[in-house]
Amino acid sequence: MKRFAILTSGGDAPGMNAAIRAATLLGVAAGAEVYGVEQGYAGLLEGAIRPLTPRDVDLILREGGTILGSARSKAFHLLERRQEARAHLKKHGIEGLIVIGGNGSLTGLLHLTDPKENDLGLLGIGLPASIDNDLGLTRLAIGVDTAINTIVEACDKISDTAAAHDRTFIVEVMGRDCGYLAMTSAIASAANAVLFPEMDKNEDEIVDTVVRAVKKVRARTGRSRRVLVIKAEGVRIKVDELKARVDARLKAELGGPEVETRVTVLGHVVRGGRPTAQDRLIASRLAAAAVTGLMSGVTRAMASWNPPANLPPEWIYGSKSDPQCALIDLPRVLEETERMLKGESQYVNWRKKAFAEIESALAL
Ligand code: F6P
Repeated sequence: MKRFAILTSGGDAPGMNAAIRAATLLGVAAGAEVYGVEQGYAGLLEGAIRPLTPRDVDLILREGGTILGSARSKAFHLLERRQEARAHLKKHGIEGLIVIGGNGSLTGLLHLTDPKENDLGLLGIGLPASIDNDLGLTRLAIGVDTAINTIVEACDKISDTAAAHDRTFIVEVMGRDCGYLAMTSAIASAANAVLFPEMDKNEDEIVDTVVRAVKKVRARTGRSRRVLVIKAEGVRIKVDELKARVDARLKAELGGPEVETRVTVLGHVVRGGRPTAQDRLIASRLAAAAVTGLMSGVTRAMASWNPPANLPPEWIYGSKSDPQCALIDLPRVLEETERMLKGESQYVNWRKKAFAEIESALAL
């Protein structure tokens, strides 16, 4: 492997820069020339490829976002576009690609490295990066830890004012199809209820969950009666409608204007910011595994952080030099990701069950 490129794609995630830096430094140290693709697959189709030197990546691990830029592109579903992308890589003499991104981005890598159409012999390894933590066979993706910390910091601030006024807040956090951010930040910010897409509640049950939590907390005497509800954006009911329906029920059942709920949508705030030390470390270690793999000819794999134990050995590639990272067969990763999205994954079902067990304790 004389020359490889790095590409960031899909929604950015804090820690992407740390991965770019580590992959560049370790690639150069191993004797490779490293290139960066700008603006994800969209940039690749335009041939926006430039050399990356250790000086270019100096200190970038402290910054959120991605110095390479990112984009969401569906162009890779078309063979013609993939051939154009391969032609650009060939022109630059690029033999390997590290793609840092989520489900769609790693699916793009799988297509690009498909042996049936990949005459170039391009090798590719993915790094999981998605604040949603919705990728299979990796305990964490790059960006998740920072996103949780951002949510918890915001909820702590909201809790201060909510406690002072005995108010109820519904805080909506990112998470399109996966409630991981909502679940984990709910525990870490002592929320009284949590709503996430995997729990399969209908709209009435969702409203009921919030109303029950508010009534339980408001029945307290002599203690703070702040109510914090964390809602993942992927939950089927829109937050404004939820507020209206909860307020109507509370007014009817409790009376008094002070029961009105407040809504805060954290939105893209959750995706930005300086990566935590944990995200910088995870990103750097995953990048190290990817570079080692590429240099020794591994392809169509994803570097995974703490993969589940007992995976079949044929799903694991390369020598495992880091006890917490492994290169896992990319098609298997994407199959498990699909199961997670459909609610058929064992791991997601465990999370659901764990939350069902603690739900009644949250508002005590
Ligand atoms: O990257 C994941 C994510 O942040 C989801 O949580 C969210 O639904 C989506 O991206 C938003 O994407 P965009 O910024 O493209 O609207």
